[in-house]
Amino acid sequence: MSVKKAVIPAAGFGTRFLPATKAIPKEMIPVVDRPAIQYVVEEAAGAGIEEVLIVTSWGKQAMEDHFDRAFELETHLEKKGKLDELEEVRRIANIARIHSVRQKEALGLGHAISMGRAFAGDDPFAVLYPDELIPGSNHGSSDVLSEMIELYNETGSSVILVQDVSAEEISAYGAIEPEDVDGRIRVRKMVEKPAPEDAPSALASRGRHVFSPSIFDALDRTGVGVGGEIQLADAIDLLAREETVYAHVYSGPVFDVGRKLDYLKATVQLALLRDDLAEGFRDFLVELLDQDRS
Ligand code: UTP
Repeated sequence: MSVKKAVIPAAGFGTRFLPATKAIPKEMIPVVDRPAIQYVVEEAAGAGIEEVLIVTSWGKQAMEDHFDRAFELETHLEKKGKLDELEEVRRIANIARIHSVRQKEALGLGHAISMGRAFAGDDPFAVLYPDELIPGSNHGSSDVLSEMIELYNETGSSVILVQDVSAEEISAYGAIEPEDVDGRIRVRKMVEKPAPEDAPSALASRGRHVFSPSIFDALDRTGVGVGGEIQLADAIDLLAREETVYAHVYSGPVFDVGRKLDYLKATVQLALLRDDLAEGFRDFLVELLDQDRS
């Protein structure tokens, strides 16, 4: 069956983006004019996802509110004749059916995904990290997830997104050992945050996956790993040793907006993709560069 469900793990503390994340969820920080998580939910819906489970935690209910109807606001906008804004506010509540579950303790990304077991049931599901933005033409989001779902539909095997990074960067990610199988890349193993000399390749796992439900059994057997957390990478490593897991290689930009420099880059790139902002913003950037050169 095709992939109609997605899990978005959003229960972390966002410590790399403090102080902004002290009282505001990292996923709600705006990039241009919408919270990061909206791009990701739009991307999921654009790939055919109908139901989204957000894994949240204490103090993060703003995410659920964002995707809910807001009757008082809608009435106000209607009265003021702000019909474009009204339409947009209503549209957001209908992008997908949103569910939520609380991860009571931030025990790690793997633990957050395991909270999706009842939601996924026996169905395959996508995972999208709400702090990784992949710009493209679908409301600012790319079609990468659609391509991964296509591969899942063809093969019935889990698919993870990977990118070629430099040898120094690999220790910030999960690194895979790839194997060429009939023109596709199969994951032989995966290591979370390896030292550069121990990395099996420079192919780094990024924040999009399509999983068969057997990932949950792998998660059940995954102990505490790097950083004292239950790591999704360790569960993927187990899964890849027991059944086929493919890697989908993507070379376009992926911005981790939970990191300050990537956040700035994402803001610039996504603003330049906007018809209503691109021209004025580009002029401003050129002016700034000219000033910098003189
Ligand atoms: P990150 O490590 O990027 O997010 O995890 P973080 O922990 O919030 O950020 P820092 O490192 O402190 O700055 C990737 C995704 O997994 C979620 C995060 O919310 C983020 O979206 N996550 C992480 C959980 O849902 N639960 C966890 O226990 C850990």
